[in-house]
Amino acid sequence: MAAYEYETHEYDVVVVGAGGAGLRATLGMAEQGLRTANVTKVFPTRSHTVAAQGGIAASLGNMGPDSWQWHMYDTVKGSDWLGDTDAMEYLAREAPKAVYELEHYGVPFSRTEEGKIYQRPFGGHTTEFGDGPPVQRTCAAADRTGHAILHTLYGQSLKHNAEFYIEYFAIDLIMSDDGAVQGVLTWKLDDGTFHVFSAKTVVLATGGYGRAFFSATSAHTCTGDGGGMVARAGLPLQDMEFVQFHPTGIYGAGCLITEGARGEGGYLTNSEGERFMERYAPHYKDLAPRDYVSRCMTLEIREGRGVGPDKDHIHLNLSHLPPEALAERLPGISESAKIFAGVDVTKEPIPVLPTVHYNMGGIPTNHWGEALNPTADDPNAVVPGLMAVGEAGCASVHGANRLGSNSLIDLVVFGRAAAIRAGQILDPGKANAPLNQASIDKAFDRFDGLRHASGGTPTAELRLEMQKTMQADAAVFRTSETLKAGVERMTEIAAKLADLHVTDRSLIWNSDLMETLELTNLMPNALATITGAEARHESRGAHAHEDFPNRDDENWRVHTIARVTGNKVDLSYRPVVLEPLTTEAEGGIQLEKIAPKERTF
Ligand code: FUM
Repeated sequence: MAAYEYETHEYDVVVVGAGGAGLRATLGMAEQGLRTANVTKVFPTRSHTVAAQGGIAASLGNMGPDSWQWHMYDTVKGSDWLGDTDAMEYLAREAPKAVYELEHYGVPFSRTEEGKIYQRPFGGHTTEFGDGPPVQRTCAAADRTGHAILHTLYGQSLKHNAEFYIEYFAIDLIMSDDGAVQGVLTWKLDDGTFHVFSAKTVVLATGGYGRAFFSATSAHTCTGDGGGMVARAGLPLQDMEFVQFHPTGIYGAGCLITEGARGEGGYLTNSEGERFMERYAPHYKDLAPRDYVSRCMTLEIREGRGVGPDKDHIHLNLSHLPPEALAERLPGISESAKIFAGVDVTKEPIPVLPTVHYNMGGIPTNHWGEALNPTADDPNAVVPGLMAVGEAGCASVHGANRLGSNSLIDLVVFGRAAAIRAGQILDPGKANAPLNQASIDKAFDRFDGLRHASGGTPTAELRLEMQKTMQADAAVFRTSETLKAGVERMTEIAAKLADLHVTDRSLIWNSDLMETLELTNLMPNALATITGAEARHESRGAHAHEDFPNRDDENWRVHTIARVTGNKVDLSYRPVVLEPLTTEAEGGIQLEKIAPKERTF
């Protein structure tokens, strides 16, 4: 058994991760007087939320008529009828409150002439239950909305005395013998010490796992750490096969060009200069949902109408927009286009390509953020002591495809919900359960094994193999053949974790070891993704299966539950929640409005 010394810290709540969801949960917990620690591997304002550009969806109605029911309908349709109805209602209903709270906390939103929060159009957001024109629902702080939210929430969390443990890497969850989460073991990166956090509730807010792919808009820190810890604790992941490709990543660099660019009037063209989205989506054109736009772009390239010498990308045109509008509303992407594509957006189009952007799947939760461990008897069984919020979680409000700007609102609505729930169920006066020493020892053993790994495969080499395989075999379009090959390849790649070679054995600022720990987190996420995708014999949302081109509600309107052990994935299925929280009579939604139908644009 590895012998490491550690310090123990006791809190009511430990939040792992300091992006938008983690900070909103931290703030909400601390505001209620719960003893709250936030443990984060990067400085809070460097979390990936800082890169969120276009905005946050809420039916404020500042730019024209809107209602939460219309927002809910769009989210249901956007999810291709895989989202949980109760959670989608909660999201749309609570969104305006959550945004006004952000405003009062100090988020510097862009403003209309009358001083209201400025809202822009985004793909898939409509009026009149999809029968009306697009709506301006996405509240924006220029094209730096995530940056504005993150800085504000960090300041507010400090004001409420939340305690931050910055540059602490979470190694593993500490589990009781009967399956409750008791805390988390962490490694302090700058001095090599170890810290056990005991908590009544651990909230995983660790973000997505975009870096399982070769080209992603996600930061290099997006390594699915929560999903990795959950899988090792014997708990499941949900709907991992649904990976969102954002239509406009910069060709080559992968950096995000916000959908807000199309919201402000930008449009896509092919090598013939054709605005091809008019052909595919006559009603919503360039503002159709992301899964659909990404597929249309891929089809244009496949059919030989891509741009550039290799005809392998598409143009995003903004130069027809007034330069002052670009400077005011889209300053960030104007700069990114210059730096990463060498393009002056006032004069030339930006070369773009669908790029991995978001994971719809994650740790299954209910609409309070409580993590689930479904059983045959109880598909909604809660894991004692564990919550998951933000991209790490799967509530599931995005189902098979997320609408743009529904991510930032997911972060704050469910970060806030987790805090409300913790306030209801936690008793701060009660002592925490004694920690399970065997679980702590097991986590140290794993850490020590990786620290001294002396096999033949360097971490960077194995990571690249995984990324290239996922990029090729879990792509925008998938086939039985590519998915079968992908599962076989990923099973072999995951087995090579046993042959890793770590060069640096020190404990202080050891990025070799940290990246190795991250790779062990990426791997179960990637395996669950490709295995779930191979098994799902239909096309729905972001899962476009060419051998099964239609949605099959009779057999496949179910959530995939994946349990990953080593390089093996065990799949089962859980029913989608079809009941809303409130019915029409209670001021809710008419069920016939959200009943499944063909998804046209
Ligand atoms: O395009 C964007 O600004 C991204 C927004 C989102 O993913 O919600």
